[in-house]
Parts: sequence; structure tokens; C-alpha cells
Amino acid sequence: MTHTAPRPTTESRLNNAGQAGETAVGMANDSGGDGERGRSRIAVQADAPGSESSDRSAALAQRLEVPLLEVVTQERDYDFVLQYTACGLEVRAIHAPEMGVLLVDINRKRWRITRRDPLAKAVGRRARRVVDATAGFGGDTLLFLRMRFQVVAIERSPVVAAVLRDVLSRAGYPDLETYERDSCDALWSLHPRPDVVYLDPMYPRKRLGSALPGKELQFLRALVGNDDDSQRLFTAAVRTALQRVVVKRPLQAPPLVANPTLSFAGKLARYDAYLLNRCDRQ
Ligand SMILES: C[S@@+](CC[C@H](N)C(=O)[O-])C[C@H]1O[C@@H](n2cnc3c(N)ncnc32)[C@H](O)[C@@H]1O
Repeated sequence: MTHTAPRPTTESRLNNAGQAGETAVGMANDSGGDGERGRSRIAVQADAPGSESSDRSAALAQRLEVPLLEVVTQERDYDFVLQYTACGLEVRAIHAPEMGVLLVDINRKRWRITRRDPLAKAVGRRARRVVDATAGFGGDTLLFLRMRFQVVAIERSPVVAAVLRDVLSRAGYPDLETYERDSCDALWSLHPRPDVVYLDPMYPRKRLGSALPGKELQFLRALVGNDDDSQRLFTAAVRTALQRVVVKRPLQAPPLVANPTLSFAGKLARYDAYLLNRCDRQ
């Protein structure tokens, strides 16, 4: 089935979560991420009046529907504080000092990739349009972009999506088609349909050998907990992709769904590809 909803402008895409009822800043209850989504206290720290990014900070607070703090001492009332700095959007864990500050490094070595990489092989040679349906902080999105695929990124956590937008912008892709929505719903409305839907849901606690650096994983766990609905997401992905669904798993973990057609193991992760024999290709 093909959905032909008009493609939104960049502004309306990014404002998807700005509509009433969709801006819950849902987060895991503890920094260990026990999968029970609760609400962490989030705020945005304002920049000094007149500084370049003060408008951005206010806009971000408004988008997330969280307070905009004027003084640093107010931070102690919050679990996470976001702030635009000269280097990018930082997330500070106020009540978990061991977590410190997250500023995603857009020059990470492992974000360099060639088409000989296991991820590239899993996506396949015929693919052109790839949807990263669990975009997180954008590490894999950047890999797809660097392999010159046409990429769409979807992330449902408003705070993670804010970091994702900042990462993409810093990396030179400010206008990438990006949705702040649940992919189970968003995948249906994509037009044209993607060749490949890529999934990297959070693996339950003690993700075995995650390819994400420790700090990013720690923040993701604290911010989104476990993705307990990945089977549902897989079903939506299979209905949407024209060629295949690729699922990233820790090396030793069982497949998300039994019997992938192909598996490609890398040093840190395994990519399970489910080839689709579609007769309803576009
Ligand atoms: C393990 S992280 C992805 C990391 C990402 N591949 C990277 O390289 O940074 C999983 C992310 O997928 C998001 N996610 C999980 N299920 C989702 C869904 N149904 N729709 C949109 N985002 C989803 C989570 O909020 C989380 O940020």
C-alpha cells in the first residue's frame, strides 16, 4: 500500500511534535533505563541575552514544552538540562554526575564507512532510499549519508530528536528529511516508499557489545529506556520497505525476528537483513 500524504516542509516536519498532546518528554525513570517510561525533569538553559543562540534556546524550550532557565542555580531542580554551546547542543545530567555531559562528536572515526562495510552489505547494492527509523543521535544516519544513500531519519523522543537535528546540522545536513514521530505511524505516510528500512532499537539492559560509545548509550538509556515495541516496529518496517529490512543487533544477541535472510557481522554489531519478495513494488 502506498501512502501519498503530501511531504511536509522542513518546518512542519520538525514541528510534528509541537502539536498538542505530542510533546511529552517521556524518559526512563532511572539512569539505568529499566524500560518503564516515566518523566524526567528537563529544562533548557538560556544563553546570555543578545548571544547568537538565545532565540534557538527559547525555541527549543518551547518545542519541548519545558522551562527556559535564566540562571545556572535553577538547574538543580532538573534531571537533564540542554544548552546550545559554541560546539553544539549539550545535554547535562544534573543528578547523575557520573554521566556528565553529552556532546555528540560528529567526527568520530567509526562514522567513516565504505560500501565494503557489513552495514553497507546488509543494506545491499540496489538500495537508494534508506529510512533510519530509529535514528537516535544520528550515528547510523550519518553513515548512510556518507555512503550517499537518500536518507530519511525518524526519532520519536523529543529530546533525542533535538540532539539529532543539532548533529545533522553540524555535520552539514541541516535540511535532511527528519521526522519527530513514532516510526510505527510515520513509516506508513512516507512517499516514495523506501528501498530499505533500518532498525536499531535499544537492546534490553546490558546491550551486548553496542556499537555506540558508552556515554551515548548511557544517555539514550536514561532518556528513552528500552524499546519494548520493536516487534511492532519490525512489522511496520516490513510493510513499508520495498527491498529489505535491516536490523542492527549486538553481536551475541538473538535476532529480533527469527531467520533473517542474511547476516553480516562487524566488530561491534551484527546486521540482520530480511529480504522482501514484493509484488507491490512502486
Ligand atoms: C539504540 S538507539 C539508535 C542509535 C542510532 N542508531 C545511532 O547510531 O545513534 C534507538 C533509538 O530509536 C528510537 N526509537 C525506538 N523505537 C522507535 C520508534 N518506533 N519510532 C521512532 N523512534 C524509535 C529510540 O527513541 C532511540 O533513540
